[in-house]
Amino acid sequence: MKKKYLLTILAILFIILVGIISLLYFKTDVLKHFFEKQETDLPVNQTQMTEEEIKLQEIGYNELEREKIYEYMSEKNQKELLNHPYVDLTDFYEIPNFELKNIDRYLAYQTISHLELQDCVTQVNLNLDKPFYEEIEEIEDPSSITVLVNKYHALPATYEPDLIPIPSFPNLKLREEATYALEKLIAAAKENGSILIPYSTYRSYEYQDGLYQKYLQNDPVDVVDTYSARPGHSEHQTGLAVDIRSEEHWSNLTEKDYAWMKENSYQYGFIIRYTKDNNKITGYKEEPWHIRYIGIEHATKVHELNITYDEYYDLYLTNH
Ligand code: DAL
Ligand code: ZN
Repeated sequence: MKKKYLLTILAILFIILVGIISLLYFKTDVLKHFFEKQETDLPVNQTQMTEEEIKLQEIGYNELEREKIYEYMSEKNQKELLNHPYVDLTDFYEIPNFELKNIDRYLAYQTISHLELQDCVTQVNLNLDKPFYEEIEEIEDPSSITVLVNKYHALPATYEPDLIPIPSFPNLKLREEATYALEKLIAAAKENGSILIPYSTYRSYEYQDGLYQKYLQNDPVDVVDTYSARPGHSEHQTGLAVDIRSEEHWSNLTEKDYAWMKENSYQYGFIIRYTKDNNKITGYKEEPWHIRYIGIEHATKVHELNITYDEYYDLYLTNH
């Protein structure tokens, strides 16, 4: 009796063991799929997602796209994406100055300009897909040392900076920071055997207007626009720009002095604003004599990157 009882238990244990082994061994894809599905379908996954992520999923962004959006896109873009129909962002993730609101303009401009996408994005952000002076924004912080003044960004007509006379050229005035930096630059150039003379510094809105009107008496507007800023659009109104000449010329630099300026002006916080390579972006012909103070840190970076200040401003000084 006892033996029979023992045998029954052993038989049951054997059957259970065989069952477990065969389950492990013969577990089919269906079974496997079932287990996996159980895991991925768990509602807990959804509850781990933020409200924004769920919204992005509903708009149509898959998991990988959502990951990239959080990794690469600015908070501003992330917010805007929530109220925007699905767009394919593949090419834009690694473009730091991408702005969702401009996406259609990037694509249109790329078709006509054949630029690299990065350049295309920067130029559209600067409004270069539109004619100069077509869409003008008034500058909100005209007294910022890094203010961008160009054909799309205008200083208020009433803006007048705080100025001081340049000690060695007391008839000319600049912002204090630019004044002392210019004195240092002129002293350093002298060490190099170059006598540099500033001849146009701060110009008021009204003065620039007078100049521009005077030029219009001699040249058509499209020509004047290549060498003179319209009033409100001149860096000279900021008190941070200087036209500087060599002793030998009445309004320009000698080749030697220009070469020195190109290599050294950044060390004093100045950049050469209008070079022959950048006129498509600035809209001006080359002006070797026009330098602009932006501070040593930024001038050094602009010099190293060898890009226009307009591009630098969009890439490094704008919140995207
Ligand atoms: N000539 C420069 C562009 C100005 O008028 O400010
Ligand atoms: Zn100038």
